Amino acid sequence: MSVTRVIIRGCGSYLPENIVTNHDLAAKIDTTHEWIVGRTGIEARHIAADGELTSDLAFNAAQNALKDAGMAAEEIDLIVLATSTPDHTFPATATKVQARLGIHHGAAFDVQAVCSGFVYALSVAENLLKSGQHSKALVIGAEVFSRILDWEDRTTCVLFGDGAGAVVLETSEGEGTNDDRGILAAQLRSDGRYYDKLYVDGGPSTNQITGFLRMEGREVFRHAVGNISSIILSTVEQAGLEPSQIDWFVPHQANKRILEGTARKVGMSMDKIVITLDKHGNTSAASIPLALDVAYKDGRIKKGDLVLLEAMGGGFTWGAALIRW
Ligand code: UT7
Repeated sequence: MSVTRVIIRGCGSYLPENIVTNHDLAAKIDTTHEWIVGRTGIEARHIAADGELTSDLAFNAAQNALKDAGMAAEEIDLIVLATSTPDHTFPATATKVQARLGIHHGAAFDVQAVCSGFVYALSVAENLLKSGQHSKALVIGAEVFSRILDWEDRTTCVLFGDGAGAVVLETSEGEGTNDDRGILAAQLRSDGRYYDKLYVDGGPSTNQITGFLRMEGREVFRHAVGNISSIILSTVEQAGLEPSQIDWFVPHQANKRILEGTARKVGMSMDKIVITLDKHGNTSAASIPLALDVAYKDGRIKKGDLVLLEAMGGGFTWGAALIRW
């Protein structure tokens, strides 16, 4: 039976030039390299230059993804941009990227699911392509979290970084089996009872200011391993597969200890997990496409590999997607 699948034709990423190490932070705030690396695995992060916006990072990542796909920008008729740090409250940053790419047709909009944003955006785009409403999509995760950090709050400011990653999607006809290339399963979840465990204390309808990120880190950590493990297992099961069959696990990059706990819980080996948080920190919606691009470009992820993406973040939101590369 022929089934329409959505495949990844290309990917790309972009990181701001400026690298800030844990030692750089320790020179300014009450922290140490040993604490940050020991509690999280993070050693450094990239920070956007003054005047460098989320749309700039997203545009560069999109161009790199289009180049990798060998596709002209005009072929794209859908842009879904996951971000919690848009250039402006509105319009969607995706429309700015659309204009810079010279695309004047189709649709462009933002998706806001914080660190789960890329998985949400991927799933939305997959369904818009599968329905036939659009034909080729750019899905981008881009963030300038450095602008919403309270640089005097050592419990949060050491964790995050800036960056962007993008993938180009198109449809392909498959046989309806797990050997098909493309997205084989995707699941999204949220539970708004935890709204105030990880949030930004500003907003247009609340206090008309941008605000700063606030997090009860221990509380987020407590839910992370359970939520992530259960969505991995149910997504893999939806496709009729087992976690042991996954070739590469490309998670949201928040904390190495969360990844170790998840790997133990679902029975996966740590060497199948792509880890970039040491160099990138937590780049929220950008972290998965950034990690994907690293592992694809260095030759780890190859055509035919089974790749699992997962994320959890503010809301709480969480989700996973299983892809035959
Ligand atoms: O991407 C969205 C999802 N976000 C996450 O997944 C983050 C989840 N949470 C975490 O990753 C961890 O909870 C953190 C890395 C944020 C914190 O690690 P923790 O092991 O939960 O530490 P803690 O918050 O329990 O703090 C332990 C101690 C505290 O001192 P006392 O009260 O024990 O004396 C903190 O004040 O570490 C102290 N501390 C620091 N010390 C040095 C907190 N931040 C720092 C710091 N440098 N930067």
